[in-house]
Amino acid sequence: MFSGFANVWTPVELSRNLKKAPMQVTVAGEKVALFRDAKGAPAALIDRCPHRGVALSLGKVTADGCLSCPFHGWEFDAQGKCGHVPFNPDAKRERLFATALPVRERGGFIWLYTAPVEQPPSEPVVPEAFEDPAFVVQRIDLRWNAHWTRAMENMLDSPHLPFVHRKTIGFPIRRRMTRESKAVVTYEETATGGRLGFELEGAPRQGALLEFNKPNGMVLHIPIPGKRMRIHVHCVPVDDGHTRMFLTGTRDFGRFNPFVRMFDEVNRLIAYEDKAIVESSSPAEVPPASQEVSVPTDRGTLQFRKYYYEVLKDSSADPKPKLRRVDAA
Ligand code: FES
Ligand SMILES: [Fe+2]
Repeated sequence: MFSGFANVWTPVELSRNLKKAPMQVTVAGEKVALFRDAKGAPAALIDRCPHRGVALSLGKVTADGCLSCPFHGWEFDAQGKCGHVPFNPDAKRERLFATALPVRERGGFIWLYTAPVEQPPSEPVVPEAFEDPAFVVQRIDLRWNAHWTRAMENMLDSPHLPFVHRKTIGFPIRRRMTRESKAVVTYEETATGGRLGFELEGAPRQGALLEFNKPNGMVLHIPIPGKRMRIHVHCVPVDDGHTRMFLTGTRDFGRFNPFVRMFDEVNRLIAYEDKAIVESSSPAEVPPASQEVSVPTDRGTLQFRKYYYEVLKDSSADPKPKLRRVDAA
């Protein structure tokens, strides 16, 4: 379950999209039913009824906040506990649970832990700007026809800027670079991932800072004196050929300035510049480093690739959680 992307937190949906009705999201090949309980708190169940396997997300949420299966009306709460089996008042409901997944709602996103555990060992890494009222936050939801590992490496790859983004964010480097230019990419481990630097020899420091937050988050700090502006991207695996890209622009200025909206459109344009290039990658998934040729400025992407092959690639969550104890009530 969640092969290649198990035991991690990821955003899976924009909060504003999860309304009263249940909905389905696909994460690393697993279909997940999202819904809100009676208090409005998000809940997530594997989208497969334990009775006959139909999609729970086609059902309804009851007045007491349970998800009622569309087929025979069994009801499951946010923990997967079965509270009602029509026509079978004596059923051993404690054996009939659905598979619940840990879920959080923070910073305008629904975050999911990709393993059916009662207590996840960590909490999601939510960028501070998502929850700081000083920031204006703009969220864009995109889909790429690419394996998420290619999308993620693209986000950690500075040397492509003057080529893919020659007229936009890559223009400053393009203007300064010559055929003899040498660049140095640095990578420094942090508590949540790593910090990347890109310096062009002989050129003044740009000051742009790129951060990787495991498993699938990137933050680009845009250097504007006295201001804070960032682009955040989360590359969420859908299946082997599709990635959901949550692109979040944050800034602590220009709240009411209509021209600043342009920045958001520029973010969208930049992502489109990357899309066609990344979608052309072959093989779709990043291969082991030994199967492609690399140079020193690939340090950032190679760090990600190491993490992917060491931690995520063979990861899988146990699909059969232990029977949950259910109160008789
Ligand atoms: S299939 Fe869900 S209740 Fe029968
Ligand atoms: Fe790019």
